[in-house]
Amino acid sequence: MTKVLAFTNNKGGTGKSTLCSNSAHLVARNGARVLVIDMTSQTTCSSLFLGKVDTLDESDTILAFLKKRPDKHIEEVIFESPKGLDAVSAHVSMAEAVTQLAAMQMGKEGVLNREIERIKDQYDYIFIDSPGDLNELTANALVPADKIFIPTRLNRTDFQCTETTIRFIQEAENFIGPRKVKVLINMLDDRYKPGGIWANSHTGELYSQAQKTFSDVLSPVTIPDSTDIRTAFDRGLTIVEYKPGEAAAKRIQELVNREVLSV
Ligand SMILES: Nc1ncnc2c1ncn2[C@@H]1O[C@H](COP(=O)(O)OP(=O)(O)O)[C@@H](O)[C@H]1O
Ligand SMILES: [Mg+2]
Repeated sequence: MTKVLAFTNNKGGTGKSTLCSNSAHLVARNGARVLVIDMTSQTTCSSLFLGKVDTLDESDTILAFLKKRPDKHIEEVIFESPKGLDAVSAHVSMAEAVTQLAAMQMGKEGVLNREIERIKDQYDYIFIDSPGDLNELTANALVPADKIFIPTRLNRTDFQCTETTIRFIQEAENFIGPRKVKVLINMLDDRYKPGGIWANSHTGELYSQAQKTFSDVLSPVTIPDSTDIRTAFDRGLTIVEYKPGEAAAKRIQELVNREVLSV
């Protein structure tokens, strides 16, 4: 059975694309058949897996079928990445898809789901990176998802956005049925966690608060702030290619084992 995983949060810069791309690559390296679908105008996952995508014509990207082109289907815009997985590229002008989807009278949230159904059997895992907005694109990412990940950093603004995102998902669940949801705390030093030497600091208290606020949906796996993750991306690499033995790579593997492979 194919598992579909969506990464979302109303807030930008929380690590959606980083955690989506790095966990997708780890899963693919374990031998699974993986497809990454990028829905963001930053094209972070697209560039990482497919190289230079800013010159791609929109008919070679996800826009081809999101913009009501009944003759265009997802299989025509799937490209093979040299990193051992397949990817559907986003396009810098994703905003046009939002406008077009918003104008649709019926079924606007189900366009991506219909396309995924066409190719689902060819993959073990499908990872969807969605924009830092709650709009028609986000809704399209939620419909096919078995599990929804909400990466967040440990600060009040990110928490508010995470709560808004959870409410958006809850409203969607009234129409699409229940989904598994996990909040992932990103860029947090372990020393702020209970038992750590900084647990009593302001950030440490925020972590305890997150445990209460997001109790049943909070993943126990947190991702450290790692210069290796940033450097890897700047070099067009995932962390497992750049420094497979380092702490950040091991933690993302832990995230994969606990939250992805168990779905
Ligand atoms: N755990 C981490 N450690 C260090 N840098 C990170 C980490 N997660 C993300 N980043 C960096 O933070 C920035 C935002 O991450 P990104 O994944 O693009 O966020 P989003 O997709 O939510 O907008 C990027 O520069 C990325 O390299
Ligand atoms: Mg992103």
